Amino acid sequence: MTELTVHTGHPYRIRIEAGCLKRAGELAAREFPAGARAVLVCDSHVRPLYAQPAADSLRRAGFRVSVFEFPAGEAHKTLATVSTIYGAFARAGLTRSDFAVALGGGVTGDTAGFAAATWMRGIRFAQIPTSLLAQIDSSIGGKTGVDLPQGKNLVGAFHQPSLVLIDPDTLKTLPAHFFSDGMGEAVKHGCIKSRPLFDRIARGGVRAGLEGFIAENLKIKRAAVERDEFDNGERMLLNFGHTFGHALEALHGYRGLSHGEAVGVGMVMMAKCGEKAGLTQPGTADEIAGALQKYGLPVWDEAQPAQLVRAALLDKKARGGVVNLVMLRKIGESFLYPADEKRLSGLAEALR
Ligand SMILES: NC(=O)c1ccc[n+]([C@@H]2O[C@H](COP(=O)([O-])OP(=O)(O)OC[C@H]3O[C@@H](n4cnc5c(N)ncnc54)[C@H](O)[C@@H]3O)[C@@H](O)[C@H]2O)c1
Repeated sequence: MTELTVHTGHPYRIRIEAGCLKRAGELAAREFPAGARAVLVCDSHVRPLYAQPAADSLRRAGFRVSVFEFPAGEAHKTLATVSTIYGAFARAGLTRSDFAVALGGGVTGDTAGFAAATWMRGIRFAQIPTSLLAQIDSSIGGKTGVDLPQGKNLVGAFHQPSLVLIDPDTLKTLPAHFFSDGMGEAVKHGCIKSRPLFDRIARGGVRAGLEGFIAENLKIKRAAVERDEFDNGERMLLNFGHTFGHALEALHGYRGLSHGEAVGVGMVMMAKCGEKAGLTQPGTADEIAGALQKYGLPVWDEAQPAQLVRAALLDKKARGGVVNLVMLRKIGESFLYPADEKRLSGLAEALR
């Protein structure tokens, strides 16, 4: 068992332990008022697998629990789904002394977290992440939100969870493709902050020792979140690979490439740009590509530099025509490198 505390405005605990899903009730009882109402939100894939053991445990601890299911998939990370979750909160009579539980992947965490952030101007919530991406990344840090037809994650709020329960056993049922997707984020963590983590990933075999692996990843995310809860500086380093990654997702119409795949390609591309500009140690892009390939992730895309630059400048992370690029000095060392259109176009020439 590993326990970590995240020291944000409202500090909260993360518990990583095989089997802790079935003990959600006793663990939640340390954080939430006795007898509180709870709405457990999950998607249609996760509900039949894990809603019952989690809800039963919460009920045994004396909470009054309702389960709400929405259809699985990024296509349902919308305001329409948030509205149906509000309906469930209203039917359950959730007040500000009650709480929500997001049980599932990043889509569930972001959507249910946003509903909790805005219901009655904010109620508390617990995260029980069940995908690798959610366990190593999205369940901590308090970014919640949904997509609009105009773009991903355009509506949202910072709202930290009150408790995060991570049961690595749930990854046994996660489809391989989504496990690989999460590995893309893990490679990113190694790239920006930890050569040892990167080497561990590149050697393969992270499934043996998942608890420690998840904790190593979360420590990197936690450090960035604690230093910069509202994403104005250090936390931006977590966006390594996202400038071209988001651009690629948009260019593929959010269908051809998953988020993890796009970020993986984006990391290789950015390292290539850095190498060409003399900012990044030569050979870094190839090393990243090698680690990604180990998990079946793609490492290149045929998009043209001009298309990538245009899409990157439209992304919401661009501020006033300037994008804060995340570059590597070498694996394990990252820095922010502000670039306007001219500088970004110059760097992107390396991708021809
Ligand atoms: N808030 C943040 O800081 C943050 C960070 C990174 C990504 N995200 C968001 O996370 C989302 C992606 O997360 P994701 O990859 O977890 O997607 P997801 O929630 O759609 O989960 C992937 C798929 O796996 C299924 N699933 C989840 N756990 C399972 C399990 N244990 N067994 C079987 N099936 C399971 C889900 O039903 C879904 O079909 C994106 O919307 C992205 O924007 C948020």
